[in-house]
Amino acid sequence: GVYSFEDSPFIMEILTELRDKNTDSIAFRKGLVKLGRYMGYELTKTMDVEEIEVETPLEKTRGILVKDRRNVVIITVLRAAIPLMEGLIKVFEHARVGIVSASRGKAPKFEIEMNYIKIPTVKPDDTVIVADPMIATGSTLIRVLKEVSKYGRPKRLIILGVLAAPEGISRIKEAFPEAEIFVAKVDRELNEKGYILPGLGDAGDRAFG
Ligand code: PRP
Repeated sequence: GVYSFEDSPFIMEILTELRDKNTDSIAFRKGLVKLGRYMGYELTKTMDVEEIEVETPLEKTRGILVKDRRNVVIITVLRAAIPLMEGLIKVFEHARVGIVSASRGKAPKFEIEMNYIKIPTVKPDDTVIVADPMIATGSTLIRVLKEVSKYGRPKRLIILGVLAAPEGISRIKEAFPEAEIFVAKVDRELNEKGYILPGLGDAGDRAFG
C-alpha cells in the first residue's frame, strides 16, 4: 500500500517549508533531516514489538522492545537522500547503510545511470528502507530496487520519500508489489520534464546547490 502523512500537521508544516522557493539550502537540508526523523518515528508504529521485563531501581515491570528497529538497512540514493538518512539514523541508530548513486537521464527516456553501489547484505529479518525524497517517474527507484534485491530478501521493503507523483507510485507498485511506500504527500502530477507538481523543485539542487 501507499501511506502518506497528510494527517500529521507537523510533517505537513515541514513539507510546506520545503516547498517554499524562498527556503535556502541550510533550512532545506534541516527540513529533510527533520522529515527523516519524524517519518522514521512514524514508521516505528508499524514495526513488530516484543514485551520484555525490566527492573527499575524499585521493582520489576513490563516494558517493550521494538525488535525491528534493530534490524534496519537504510539505502541512501544520492544526493538528495543524504539529509533524509541523517534523520532516519536518529531513530534507527543500529542501521546498516547502503549508498547508491542513480541519476536520471533526459526526457523522454529518463534512463538511469548507477555509477556507485555499496549495499550491505540483507538478512531475512531485516527491514530495508530505501530513502529518496522524490518519486517522480519512479525509474530511479525501480532501478535501485532491482539492485537492492540482489543482496537478499528482507522481511519488509519500505520506500521512504517526501513527495511522489501518482505515475511513479503505480510504476513501482507494478514492478515491486511487495514494496510499502511511505511519503509525506502524494502530489498532483508530473510535468513534461518529469518534475513533480506542485512539488518542491529539484531536491538535490536545493539541498546541495
Ligand atoms: C531526483 C530525485 C530522485 C529522482 C526521482 O534525483 O532525488 O532520485 O530524481 O526521479 P524519478 O522518479 O523520475 O526517477 P536527481 O536525478 O535529480 O539527482 P540528485 O539528487 O543528485 O540531484
